[in-house]
Amino acid sequence: MKEDFPIFSRMINGRPLVYLDNAATTQKPACVIDAMSDYYSSSNANVHRAVHTLAGEATEGYEACRKMLKKRFNSRYAVITSGTTEAINLVAHAWGEHNLNDGDVIVLTEMEHHSDIVPWQMLAERKSIELRYVPVTDGELDLDAFRVALEGAKLVCVVHTSNVLGIRNPIEDIISISQKSGARVLIDAAQAVPHEEIDFDKLGADFMAFSAHKMCGPTGIGALLVNESSFNEMEPFMGGGDMIETVTTEGSTYQSNEHRFEAGTPRIAEGFGWAAALEWLESVDLKSHHSRLLKIANRVAEELRSKGMKVYSSLRPGDAAVISFTHPTIHPEDFARLLDAQGIAVRTGHHCAQPLMERLGVTGTIRASFYVYNDESDADIFLDGVDRVMEAMQ
Ligand SMILES: Cc1ncc(COP(=O)(O)O)c(C=O)c1O
Repeated sequence: MKEDFPIFSRMINGRPLVYLDNAATTQKPACVIDAMSDYYSSSNANVHRAVHTLAGEATEGYEACRKMLKKRFNSRYAVITSGTTEAINLVAHAWGEHNLNDGDVIVLTEMEHHSDIVPWQMLAERKSIELRYVPVTDGELDLDAFRVALEGAKLVCVVHTSNVLGIRNPIEDIISISQKSGARVLIDAAQAVPHEEIDFDKLGADFMAFSAHKMCGPTGIGALLVNESSFNEMEPFMGGGDMIETVTTEGSTYQSNEHRFEAGTPRIAEGFGWAAALEWLESVDLKSHHSRLLKIANRVAEELRSKGMKVYSSLRPGDAAVISFTHPTIHPEDFARLLDAQGIAVRTGHHCAQPLMERLGVTGTIRASFYVYNDESDADIFLDGVDRVMEAMQ
């Protein structure tokens, strides 16, 4: 599969690239790069605005991305955003601002990425909303505490699969318990959609946010899926071209479909690129890669433990192949720099999840995250690299 990805022909510090920073962003197959470049070289025009041939091609290509998203995720609405972060901020402004009031409660978890914490803190400040955080106990969400936190809550915002631990939360149960108690549910699926196929309608959540770049698509584009009742409760957040039906000096009326939330010229080339990534993913059996990668990750985690590392990910069936670990004395950044010197890319730091770091009792971890093009040989090179780091730091 690596042959589909031009970047894997690159050497890093004299070694072939071993890319294990997939939870941050995945690499792009040639078809995605070509689709974006083809758009600029042969169909470049603005969308939705003109009758000429190029405008027609640009509109068709961009809207094809939306159609593919709706089909792949079985959703009536797909609002195109700049990514997960913008999608969650859009819900806070377009839904939260109009449907939540002083004294209302939003339930979050200690496992959230900052992009599913900060927008709610900002809304809470504007509206005097109470935020309740479900604790993480032994690396898992505490579901008993979740039930207690739900009392009177209007909205639950929860990460489907953790970017730090790879843990897949019991999302179906969380949605059903939340909705029985009358709360709306937003799922942060940034790390979920790259690893499993999700039927949004069947899942039953109200909102689901994710980014293209974590599933082999371009950066700068993502989506918010919304169910019908929540869509009907959203009011436009940004005003401008493309989102209106009519504008007079007295006032404006807005489009009734997703465009009402997409003011201005959208990410057209990125739409072409994401459509190509979605098509490429159609030929990838995510389920079998998921279990293959989890097996590799479990072997790596076991070996890391035997080398004296503390591993925070439990890597149970269903979890993503994301291994967060620390060495007893070597600082994560030193560790990662010495791996990079051997052509191995991993991430270090708090992974935009400081409350979770606090709960784990660390300021940061080293994270090795695997995706569909990784294989056993990447794992072997990584483990050899870990040995070399430990020798060098002795
Ligand atoms: C779980 C999770 N949520 C949200 C985000 C934010 O995604 P983006 O930066 O693409 O908006 C990330 C990115 O790392 C993530 O892993």
